[in-house]
Amino acid sequence: MTFTRRQILLGLGALGVAGLGAGGVRYWLGRPANVTTHDYELIAAPLDLELVPGHTTPAWAFGGQAPGLELRVRQGDMLRVRFINQLEVETTIHWHGIRLPLEMDGVPYVSQAPVKPGEYFDYQFLCHDAGSFWYHPHTASSEQLGRGLVGPLIVEEREPTGFVHERTLSLKSWHVDEQGAFTAFSVPRLAAREGTRGRLSTINGQHLPVLDLPAGQVVRLRLLNLDNTISYRLNLKGGGEARIYALDGHPVAPRPLGKEYLLGAGMRIDLAVKVPAAGQEIALRNGPLRLATLRSVASAEVPGDWPPALPANPVAEPDLTGAETLRFNFEWSAVLASPQQQGPASYWQINGQAWDINDKRCAERPIATLQKDRSYIFELRNMAQYLHPIHLHGMTFKVLDSDRKRITPYYTDTYLLGKNETARIAFVADNPGVWMFHCHVIDHMETGLMAAIAVV
Ligand code: C2O
Ligand code: CU
Ligand code: CU
Repeated sequence: MTFTRRQILLGLGALGVAGLGAGGVRYWLGRPANVTTHDYELIAAPLDLELVPGHTTPAWAFGGQAPGLELRVRQGDMLRVRFINQLEVETTIHWHGIRLPLEMDGVPYVSQAPVKPGEYFDYQFLCHDAGSFWYHPHTASSEQLGRGLVGPLIVEEREPTGFVHERTLSLKSWHVDEQGAFTAFSVPRLAAREGTRGRLSTINGQHLPVLDLPAGQVVRLRLLNLDNTISYRLNLKGGGEARIYALDGHPVAPRPLGKEYLLGAGMRIDLAVKVPAAGQEIALRNGPLRLATLRSVASAEVPGDWPPALPANPVAEPDLTGAETLRFNFEWSAVLASPQQQGPASYWQINGQAWDINDKRCAERPIATLQKDRSYIFELRNMAQYLHPIHLHGMTFKVLDSDRKRITPYYTDTYLLGKNETARIAFVADNPGVWMFHCHVIDHMETGLMAAIAVV
């Protein structure tokens, strides 16, 4: 199969003062007088992949690769993407974790009309926060993300960070059989439980890759969970030392990785790894299962040292004393038991309301309405034993505490709510719009576990 691969990578070099016209930044904070723009042309199109040796998988790809082309921009700069849809289905792009104006958020019927086959849409927004982010459609998500429409978006820090080496590792487990053919992206019995897993684990589209890293250096590994379902129990085995530098894009005080880190669907972690002596190997694992081999190769560079903590992002600090608390219960839907149920399956609900992905007007009934610039505490309560990575669009929140584990407060866009856990998050509702609030296990989201939060 042939495909068009035109990536205009003006990206890192392009200079240009943005003529910010239409809509784009209407709502947003201030912006610097001179903004550098990073321009991309990004095509979504079918692409045959060889995930299983000797077999073809009919994937869908952004920029001729799956996971998609890595987009890069510098913090404070403008990202401009002309998105061209060469698929036979309509789609959109959502920029996961980026604080942007609603009309750039990529949610069909809320932010924009879906981009039809053969059509294009221009996305443009300022990237206020540095870190590891990603992009994906927000329509027919089980299939579209399942077929490969996921990609990294890296926002580089404004100033040098002390990291000289870095790698982006996009984790995805494909729903394919031994012949590379797609299997069901969502199986009802599993959607009502932990979600439907793919069976072929990959990093950057490769099963069990070997990645060469320079001996003696400190390398920043940006690990992105772009999977539909899986929470990876990330750990390193066999030497080297790893420290956590950022969670879901946002810096934390560096600390050892420890035994493992549970990275839910949609979440990211930036690790610094001190690479052992040449010839040694480290296994990057999901629990006991190997995902990749990190191989140390000789390097002529002087040994590296741990860089300082990354600079904090400009996220508003919520005022906890004046904040209003809202409670959200994530639970099974009673409809599960009803044989009379009509329409799409609904296995999950938030505060008794199940989202219906076929109802274009769901977002007109927000589950909560927040006053702009007020602080809110959300109490998130998991009423079931399955994990829910709970994600909010448009704003970054601070995780305060949990009844299951000790938390050092940190900023994120996705919190992995464990079995029967209650956690509290807080944020300033500083971005007007109607924002999706959902579980990032895609078949949970598509069977009810989504709501809209309005900020007015
Ligand atoms: Cu990755 Cu609705 O988001
Ligand atoms: Cu998102
Ligand atoms: Cu869930």
